[in-house]
Amino acid sequence: MSIRRQRGGKMTRVIGIVSGKGGVGKTTTTINLATALMGFGQNVIAVDADVKMSGLGLQLGMYHFPVTLNDVLMERGYIQQALYIHSSGLRIIPASLCVEDVRVSRLKHVLSDPFLKDNIVVVDAPPGLEKNSISILKSCPEVLIVTTPEIPSITDAMKIICTAKKMDTKPIGIIVNMYKNRNSHQINFKEIESTCGIPVIGTIPEDKIIKKGLFFGVPSVLLNPYSPSSLAFKEIAARIIGENYIPPKFAFIKRFFGGLKK
Ligand SMILES: Nc1ncnc2c1ncn2[C@@H]1O[C@H](COP(=O)(O)OP(=O)(O)OP(=O)(O)O)[C@@H](O)[C@H]1O
Ligand SMILES: [Mg+2]
Repeated sequence: MSIRRQRGGKMTRVIGIVSGKGGVGKTTTTINLATALMGFGQNVIAVDADVKMSGLGLQLGMYHFPVTLNDVLMERGYIQQALYIHSSGLRIIPASLCVEDVRVSRLKHVLSDPFLKDNIVVVDAPPGLEKNSISILKSCPEVLIVTTPEIPSITDAMKIICTAKKMDTKPIGIIVNMYKNRNSHQINFKEIESTCGIPVIGTIPEDKIIKKGLFFGVPSVLLNPYSPSSLAFKEIAARIIGENYIPPKFAFIKRFFGGLKK
């Protein structure tokens, strides 16, 4: 599957959000990156392909899904029926909250559906290299690898990068999440770049607004657009679509007033 340029300059892109270790922030990244891309005028759909441990809908405070990605994979429903719109405007295709074996091998076919044309499809994956994760790597022409700045997480991220490179999948960058500038015990992102051989596309600091977003079921980039993690997500989104994003001056003042709203 290749990247398809569409009329009006919009591209159909399918970007997997993957990681070696679990709990490093893939779902958080999927939601906030998708929302930030929307803010740049892109048509975006976030897909929960973590079919066993789905959480994308829940993290957005959405629970009721009559038709899910599971049904589309099992040919029990159409992709159009599995699309839901969050109050923020973010469009999502959730996975079922029930644990069941589904044919994730059909994901590539599902993600090539003409219904997704002209969209940036951001695909939330399970961690690691088990069967479902491999199917997701095979289904996404591009992947972003999320890691924390600790060595075990980076080591596992490298395994994902190596596996992706062996497939028709382009690792477009590493996202270093929960970055703490002043912590000398974490690896420097320049070291991460040279170890993994692909660029660090952005670093996201540890930020309380992310837990607040989770609590309210709202993407944290909207809850406080000027918080450090929100600015980082916007920078990454801009890089992905080749735009130049300059964070606003006095963001710290706007952040304060933005933070007072919620
Ligand atoms: N930059 C951050 N600052 C603070 N908390 C964060 C940050 N990123 C993620 N979190 C929190 O870390 C936890 C794990 O995040 P998330 O669910 O996105 O990880 P994941 O990689 O999708 O996990 P899994 O592998 O289980 O699917 C969540 O509680 C989330 O709110
Ligand atoms: Mg997740």
